Amino acid sequence: MSAEVVRRLFAERFGGPAEVVVRAPGRVNLIGEHTDYNGGFVFPAAIDRTISVAARRTVGRSCLISDALGESDAFDAATVAPGTVAGWTRYAAGMAWALRGDGTLPDIEAVVASDLPMGSGLSSSAAIEMAFGVVWNVLGGLGLDNKTLAQRAHRCETQFVGLNCGIMDMMASALCREGCAMFLDTRSLEVSYAPLPEGTAIVLCDTKTPRELAGSAYNDRRATCESAAAKLGVPSLRELPLERLLAARETLTDQEFRRAFHVVTEDLRSLQFAEALRRGQTWRIGTLMRGSHDSLRLDYEVTSPALDAMAEAAWNAPGCIGARMTGAGFGGACVALVEQSRVAEFAEGARTAYELAMGAVPDIWACQAVDGARVEPS
Ligand code: GLA
Repeated sequence: MSAEVVRRLFAERFGGPAEVVVRAPGRVNLIGEHTDYNGGFVFPAAIDRTISVAARRTVGRSCLISDALGESDAFDAATVAPGTVAGWTRYAAGMAWALRGDGTLPDIEAVVASDLPMGSGLSSSAAIEMAFGVVWNVLGGLGLDNKTLAQRAHRCETQFVGLNCGIMDMMASALCREGCAMFLDTRSLEVSYAPLPEGTAIVLCDTKTPRELAGSAYNDRRATCESAAAKLGVPSLRELPLERLLAARETLTDQEFRRAFHVVTEDLRSLQFAEALRRGQTWRIGTLMRGSHDSLRLDYEVTSPALDAMAEAAWNAPGCIGARMTGAGFGGACVALVEQSRVAEFAEGARTAYELAMGAVPDIWACQAVDGARVEPS
């Protein structure tokens, strides 16, 4: 979403110029799924579908307007508490709540505009949080860096919004770089960047199916991982070598074993994926992405018939290097790496195969890897 659009919307609604315009991107995750709340590795890239916010300080309560979702409940940045605001306002108000310890926050009026699909597993909530994090950082003069803002956004999501998620989405929206995927160790929060191989496009294959039960099933997966780790005496599944897991099979329930098996092998696949990317071994990238999807389907059980059909359609389409579901699962999108020169053929092939299998039309589009959240130049 362009800065000009949101600037104009702000002027129309509030009758004057905004003090600051920011944008925060959504993300895809290339590999490393359901590992971030287990201290493991993830490999996201920020995409050129973003949330933009134009804002200025005001006296009185904060008032936000979204082009798609309407006007928010008004709230006081200095006193808003968990459970007192509903809907999309929670992401912005929760950032005020999470940042309050870092300085004095002004109330604001703001306009939000987005071209990032919601509910497709592309982290629109983390993008809203990061966008408002940057707004308050600037207008409150807090002087925080993007990594700290991502940590505050994680606190907002887990303690204010109430989803017990990992930190991948906020870190991706905060710290990713143009043209690169970001390898993140979610235990140490160390990041490194890997350029995407020359001539490779990231293609989103959105099934547009809603992510039903995503909240409760997500928290349930996390609880099973934690109980497996506790039974095996490790602080998190990150610390569990595969051999130890295999040797301890009898100690766990079948479900705990299969969930843990996914997490432990997904960490190994992520490390191998990073190496394959470095060496430009596209065949290996494809095998690892397919292995990840199958593990999420069979052992972690977070895919859906639509996601499986989409992945299958992508694997068989011309120019596909690799494909898998991306994000929490239960619906949403697959990500594919595709030969740049064959994106149109790929989209055509994948769309046709998916339509035949599911009787529904997916949304397939190529995206660019972009920089993380930032203030737009005025
Ligand atoms: C959601 C969560 C992330 C991560 C993914 C699955 O996107 O917000 O923290 O757990 O699911 O990898």
